[in-house]
Amino acid sequence: MNQYMKVSPEEAYRARDGVIKIHGEEGFAGMRKAGRIAAEILDDLVPHVVPGVTTGELDDMVREQALRSGSVPATLGYRGFTHSCCTSINQVVCHGIPGDTVLRDGDIVNIDVTVIVDGWHGDTSRMYLVGDVSIKAKRLVDVTYECLMLGIEQAKPGNFLGDISHAIQSHAEKNRYGVVREFCGHGLGRLFHDSPEVVHVGQAGTGPELKPGMFFTIEPMINGGKAGTKMLSDGWTAVTRDRKLSAQFEHSIAITETGCEIFTQSPKGLNNPPY
Ligand code: MF3
Ligand code: CO
Ligand code: CO
Repeated sequence: MNQYMKVSPEEAYRARDGVIKIHGEEGFAGMRKAGRIAAEILDDLVPHVVPGVTTGELDDMVREQALRSGSVPATLGYRGFTHSCCTSINQVVCHGIPGDTVLRDGDIVNIDVTVIVDGWHGDTSRMYLVGDVSIKAKRLVDVTYECLMLGIEQAKPGNFLGDISHAIQSHAEKNRYGVVREFCGHGLGRLFHDSPEVVHVGQAGTGPELKPGMFFTIEPMINGGKAGTKMLSDGWTAVTRDRKLSAQFEHSIAITETGCEIFTQSPKGLNNPPY
């Protein structure tokens, strides 16, 4: 049995307890603002994601741009994470820590930004191609973006969460890629990580039924090789077990009466590379 609860903006702060929150118009307004700012930050990074830049320099740009926009990076101080974004290069699946690492020609990198605006969270990530990238890497990035968008196509009232998972898994596996199991999308709103868990593998017609007012992310991590991951000793960086490439895209969305609304659409149309 899944439970749902209509929440006012104040009730949206309720701790995660397995109940899926149904948000109202004020929630939509808050999420539109937060989502747009997060997407604009990713847009503004485009000219800077080039060979020679460090992930720490990109993190500085994210923090400065977030604060200039009247938002706060949600990852800053989150469970001991001390950066404003995650930078996940090549075999890094997610939660790469910005630092002295220099981006090199041929790298693919995911930059994941979450901002808080008036308490609402906008969470989004995209892949960037650094210089000249191999056809193999580019194909993984393309298919991963297609996985996200095919999942989003299933996000409508009357469908089930499993319909999203199934669409993503079938497309990835049809292309002989592995879908990461250890990390998933999540409800969000005034909480960064809320119910439900949005897993990226599953069966159609299973899981909670989608209802207007639900807010969650879809953020498939797709591996060029096998699905398995390994956590590095820093406790954050997840890499592919076989050290093959991994890619990810993330949007924050809402279920609406007629389908869904993407809060983190790029204002400049820079949704997937080349930008
Ligand atoms: N933005 C990530 C997500 O999509 C979460 C990052 S948490 C951090 O859910 F602490 F690793 F930054
Ligand atoms: Co997320
Ligand atoms: Co994210």
